[in-house]
Amino acid sequence: MSKIFYPNREFSKQARIKNMCEYKEICAEVDDNYEAYWDKLAKEKIEWLEPYDKVLDESKAPFYKWFTNGKLNITHQCIGRHLDTRKNKAAIIWEGEDGSRRIITYLLLYYRVNRFANLLRNKFGIKKGDRVVIYMPMIPEAAFAMLACAKIGAIHSVVFGGFSAEALRDRIIDAGAKLVITADGAFRRGNPYLLKPIVNKALEKGCECVENVLMVQRNYEEVDMVEGRDHIYNDLIKQESEFCEAEVMDSEDPLFLLYTSGSTGKPKGVQHSGAGYILWAQYTMENVFDVKENDTFWCTADVGWITGHTYIVYGPLAIGATTIMYEGVPLYPDAGRWWKMIEELRINQFYTAPTAIRLLHKVGADEPSKYDLSSLKVLGTVGEPINPDAWMWYYETIGGGKCPIVDTWWQTETGGHIISPLPGATPIKPGAATFPLPGIKAEIIDKNGNPTPKGEKGLLCITKPWPSMIRTIWGDPDRFVKSYFGDCKKDGKPVYFSGDAAIYDEDGYIFITGRTDDVINVSGHRLGTAEIEGVIGHEEHVAEVAVVGRPDDIKGEDVFAYIVTKKDVDEATLIGNINALITKEIGPIAKVGSILVVPGLPKTRSGKIMRRILRSIAKGEEITQDISTIEDPSIVGTIEKLFKEKNRR
Ligand code: WTA
Repeated sequence: MSKIFYPNREFSKQARIKNMCEYKEICAEVDDNYEAYWDKLAKEKIEWLEPYDKVLDESKAPFYKWFTNGKLNITHQCIGRHLDTRKNKAAIIWEGEDGSRRIITYLLLYYRVNRFANLLRNKFGIKKGDRVVIYMPMIPEAAFAMLACAKIGAIHSVVFGGFSAEALRDRIIDAGAKLVITADGAFRRGNPYLLKPIVNKALEKGCECVENVLMVQRNYEEVDMVEGRDHIYNDLIKQESEFCEAEVMDSEDPLFLLYTSGSTGKPKGVQHSGAGYILWAQYTMENVFDVKENDTFWCTADVGWITGHTYIVYGPLAIGATTIMYEGVPLYPDAGRWWKMIEELRINQFYTAPTAIRLLHKVGADEPSKYDLSSLKVLGTVGEPINPDAWMWYYETIGGGKCPIVDTWWQTETGGHIISPLPGATPIKPGAATFPLPGIKAEIIDKNGNPTPKGEKGLLCITKPWPSMIRTIWGDPDRFVKSYFGDCKKDGKPVYFSGDAAIYDEDGYIFITGRTDDVINVSGHRLGTAEIEGVIGHEEHVAEVAVVGRPDDIKGEDVFAYIVTKKDVDEATLIGNINALITKEIGPIAKVGSILVVPGLPKTRSGKIMRRILRSIAKGEEITQDISTIEDPSIVGTIEKLFKEKNRR
């Protein structure tokens, strides 16, 4: 049985949700009248330009619509409405890797975003509904760019700066972006690195949709500019007015696209709309992190991921909080950097990924003791399951045994937290995401909607629509229905299946066990095995390949490839070639950690690779699956033997 950690009494007293009775009361209220609950929240939390006429429209399910015909602009919610009471409050505190800082107050943010929005509208002719790709380092201009798009109704699609030119190109083309916003580069591990050349490369072919590139100068490195197409933000922005008329947006107008990996094919452009998304961003900031007026909130994600969207930019700003943005890596100049920042900036809520916690524990276990971390009130984790060791270190060493840890389970598709402890209420168990947030119907069921018995693995589904849910996959509504609503039903109705498996323990706590599909999670980054296999298949020696996740002490999972070669090659050359290709086609985050050259892959008679078997071998597990349907069952033993031999070496 896992140990239970009860919320700190002093903390609970001041928390928004103070105990499990209150939690259950809200859940009962939601059960009594689902829509009335969301109606109340939407009226309380959002400043509408025009009221909505229906809370939830299910007529075209699973294309659910929320707060239909309501009108708003997200930037009013995130900036404009705070100007009366918080104009001089720091909205964003940015820290460069070199230690320099920029503080942007709400009033200054308002001007910055207005100018940026004017530039997009006037100079580049960006209109409501146009797509803008943002490929930026972690600098405040990335947030300004997102908000500027929102102000004029353009749909932004932020692409993580670690993706390669090819990956960027695919996303630009799929979104049909008219404009790319980028930077010359930034700083990492003390050195300048470049982004603009990657944009140049991406635009070499197939991106006819792109009319202009706007480049922010951050490190002032020399980069190639294309006459007529490329423009320097730092020069142009000065001429723009500090006032800008916001576009009146419908609740269901798309706010952004964010590409994420699926189990098959190319990445999917997850589409979110404004009203429901911002409502949930705000609600979770308040209830999961319990952020108060004078608090300083730090989420260490990159804005290129959903966590950065919701918990660096939109969520903190929607509640008028102070959000931290850090440019660099956690180990620069040493493994104490983050703890130093917590001390100096007196951070109150700190939100990071288990991978980072494991890394900092491993390489700098003594570092935290050098700093005063007493400002911390709530700690959070996201992206992957956290192992009890890392959890305990986080709890005791970083949180001083007094800070609740909110282990938040959610996805790009859910927009915000779905299952998480409430810091003042939930007794926590290390490694458990605990219970669904009030308002959310998340359940572990089988394909037909029957609840999974305690202690047994089942499918993690969200059985009622929620406001911040994915609306569709950009340009591919069929794939949206198939990917998320094709597997599970409850009461005969298709319900959202997350792709994750989970378990209820004996007390009904939810423990996430990981993906059920061919998506792997490396350092909290979602990677599609099909995508990686596609790339490896282009290497000249490779005849066949199957990629699976293999447990890794720091990264959670690592990419492991089984390879059948068509000609002789030594392993070092092969892995070198493969990783060079992956870096080029996807980005370094998808590099393989190790490979195993095998004489064949286990396949069904119809030729389907039996990945489950390969996954078990990579994990060092006994093969318990039925292998009688394999065309050549002896291959399993051969691969197992090779695997063991290699790991003995
Ligand atoms: C995994 C990140 C265990 C899960 C916000 C999910 C988690 C995928 C947790 C989504 C958690 C996220 N515990 N696993 N607390 N949070 N995951 O879209 O497999 O980048 O499906 O969103 O990360 O990854 P994504």
